[in-house]
Amino acid sequence: MSEIRSRIKELLAPIAGDMEVMNRVLQAQLVDESPAVQDMTSHVGRFSGKQLRAALVLLVAEASGRRSSEHVQVAAIVEMIHLATLVHDDVLDGAEVRRRVACVNERWDNQTAILLGDFLYSRAFGLSTQLKSRLTSQLLAATTSRLCAGEIEQSTQRYDFELTQERYEFICAAKTASLYGAACELGARVSDQDGSGSFAKDDELARSMASFGEELGLAFQIIDDCLDLVGDAEIVGKSVGTDVEDGKVTLPVLHIYASASEQTRTQIRDIYTQDGIQKRAHHLRESIDLAPGLEYARARAEELVDRAMERLDVLPDSPARRTLKSIGDFVLGRNW
Ligand code: FPP
Ligand code: MG
Repeated sequence: MSEIRSRIKELLAPIAGDMEVMNRVLQAQLVDESPAVQDMTSHVGRFSGKQLRAALVLLVAEASGRRSSEHVQVAAIVEMIHLATLVHDDVLDGAEVRRRVACVNERWDNQTAILLGDFLYSRAFGLSTQLKSRLTSQLLAATTSRLCAGEIEQSTQRYDFELTQERYEFICAAKTASLYGAACELGARVSDQDGSGSFAKDDELARSMASFGEELGLAFQIIDDCLDLVGDAEIVGKSVGTDVEDGKVTLPVLHIYASASEQTRTQIRDIYTQDGIQKRAHHLRESIDLAPGLEYARARAEELVDRAMERLDVLPDSPARRTLKSIGDFVLGRNW
């Protein structure tokens, strides 16, 4: 674990100072006069892991030579929205552990977790209203609607074993990659000059960075889905197996199912749906050879990371760009 921490520290060295300021801004937003809220926000503060999305805002800003006085606030806002989505997501998934600590729904209850997610989300937007331009509010409002729509779509496709890969990716892009894309786009677009908050459509660099973030985020979600299926909760640091419990059919399973015999298909469906099965993901792993599905999903994630890396060609060489380059391997290599 400490090896991973020191690797992250090394990777984020080009933005270490900004990350520190970003964390101070974030912590200030988690303060509240209600002792109950304060207790919960302090708890959620412990969810802060890699802070990848905030780091992407700052790295893209730095690498594109567009770092402004407001990027640290923007990064804190993105991270707060991410925290709010995690708190809500754990309710939806009935998850128990996140980043090695009890989920809010587990330590308190579902109602509290929904309210706390709303609290974090409104604090994020409160802070965005203090920025010079409306760009951040606009982009993040659109991103959050897309993210919620992705979650809603996902819940309507539960137990759909014939979901196409295209549809699966559409959902993953909306629920996860959208915030990565927005983080990178804001890194490139927020500027001290632009008080009007307009989106320059011809801003090629910002568009490339948005695509970089989306592709990286999609790869992240595909790997996350593999880990949910076969990862060890102790190593991953959060509840695993919840996708199978909830009827979410993810890429490795979709791939296996598409070419399986009728008998195997029935077996897969039964494991997902029959009453009385404990630890469905474990059961699936024991009964079905998931390796070809996992390999396929991994290859797809690698393809997306390769494409994301090509987007960085528009940036000049710099320590921040070098870090962006290594984040791809980091996403593919993660097993915690
Ligand atoms: C990953 O899901 C997806 C998310 C973390 C996004 C969840 C978004 C919502 C629940 C909407 C929240 C809306 C607002 C306004 C705060 P996953 O279950 O595959 O990932 P996991 O393994 O990290 O749980
Ligand atoms: Mg989840």
